[in-house]
This record gives sequence, structure tokens and C-alpha cells, in this order.
Amino acid sequence: MESAMDYHTARALLEWQIELGATEAILDAPVNRYETPAQKPKPKADAPIAPIKKPKIDPVQVAKTQAQGAGDLAALKATLAQFEHCDLRRGARSMVFADGNPAAKVMIIGEAPGRDEDREGRPFVGRVGQLFDRMFAAIDLSRDGSEAESSVYVTNILPWRPPQNRDPKADEIAMMMPFVARHVELANPDILVLMGNIACQGVLGKRGVSRLRGHWVEAFGKPALPMYHPDALMRNPVLKREAWADLLDLKSRLNGKG
Ligand code: URA
Repeated sequence: MESAMDYHTARALLEWQIELGATEAILDAPVNRYETPAQKPKPKADAPIAPIKKPKIDPVQVAKTQAQGAGDLAALKATLAQFEHCDLRRGARSMVFADGNPAAKVMIIGEAPGRDEDREGRPFVGRVGQLFDRMFAAIDLSRDGSEAESSVYVTNILPWRPPQNRDPKADEIAMMMPFVARHVELANPDILVLMGNIACQGVLGKRGVSRLRGHWVEAFGKPALPMYHPDALMRNPVLKREAWADLLDLKSRLNGKG
């Protein structure tokens, strides 16, 4: 059995330790003073980082919703100017919306702005535009006309110039079509003219203007006439004969004789 040490013995032992150089009381077990408080384990360097999921956006659906929300042509133009999903806008100087008389009975849909149109912000200017104006002047139609019967209204499938005038891609056309559809709905012409392959691809879903031209079809609930693009006529003037036949056909239809 352990006997309790008396006061005097304990004190003598303590003094003896102090004499030996002890300066502080110590515990039974050693204390590691280099040990830091418990820390959170560090993630391993090669631990996989969970990807941040972005909600997937369907630009065609966004275009449909936005275009339908536009109540008039000015609102449609402003909505298109805010549309962020078509990358072509970033390389273009201007947005080319339309030109001519919005009340015209004839609405012409072309392809996309070229260099001159991108500079001026109007469709069909430059050399192609001059031929365009001469073609319609030949059947007494002009984009400067103030009467619905004697004027035209003109737009393009794409409002921004593709780089180096390349053909528009299918997804670029698809995301612009809701705006074109709304444009037609708001302008409400009697007749549509689809100029060239890209207009036919966008509106009718097929190319091959040399087969399609001259045959009336229905588009957006309106009679539509596919025609050669003036650019094609400049590169291949023998096509002008067929283009002239189509212009005469358009004039007859406008005068209620077609
Ligand atoms: N070609 C088009 O189809 N549209 C224009 O505006 C100019 C050239």
C-alpha cells in the first residue's frame, strides 16, 4: 500500500529538484508542443472537380419566344438587335433589318447582307442592289414608293453579314427563321418573293432555285414566288430571261390576273 508522503519530506524533495535546476512542473506524459490543432484534411490535388452545369439553351426556342413578343416592326427590330445567340452579330458592323415600304403588297426575302449592306445597314445596296432595283423598276415597283401597290418591302434571312460572305450555316438560318416568320406576319404583305437558294432553304426547307423558280408555292400562309437572286443573274446573265418571265408573272398576280 502506498503511504502518503508527509509535508516536510515532499517539500525537501521539491527543494532538492529546484537545486538541480528544475524550473517548471511537468506532467506524467510528455506534451508535443509542435503539434498544431486539428486541421481539415486538404483535398487531394487530383481529386475530380464537379463540373458546373449550365442550363442548356435552345436558341431557336429563345428566338421564337422573343419574336412572338414583338408587337410591331420597330419592336421586332429592337428585339433582334438584343438577340445574343447568333455569333455572326459579333463580326458584323451593322444589323440589316429591312428597307422599302412596310405597307407594300410585295415583300422580298433575300439571303444576307454583303460588304456594302454591312457598311450601310440597308439590304441590297451596291452593284447587286442596283440590279435588284432595276428588276423591280421594270415592273413598276420600287422600294421608295409610298403606295402599297407600287412599292416593295425587302429583308433578308440573316440580318448580319457572314464572314467573307460565306453561305449561312443551317443553325444560323434556323435561329433566324422565327424572326423572319414574325417579320412576315407583322408586315402582312399579299405576296412573298424568295430570292435565291438561302431564302428557299430558310422558308421552304429546300434548295434548288433553278427548279423552284417560277412555281408559286405557299409560305407563311401567303403565295410565294421563288426567283433567281440578282447575284446569280450577274454571274450568269443567261438566267435573266427566266428572271424576266418570273417578274412578269409577279406583276400579273399583283394585278389580279395571275
Ligand atoms: N444579297 C442578299 O441576299 N441580300 C442583301 O442584302 C445583299 C445581297
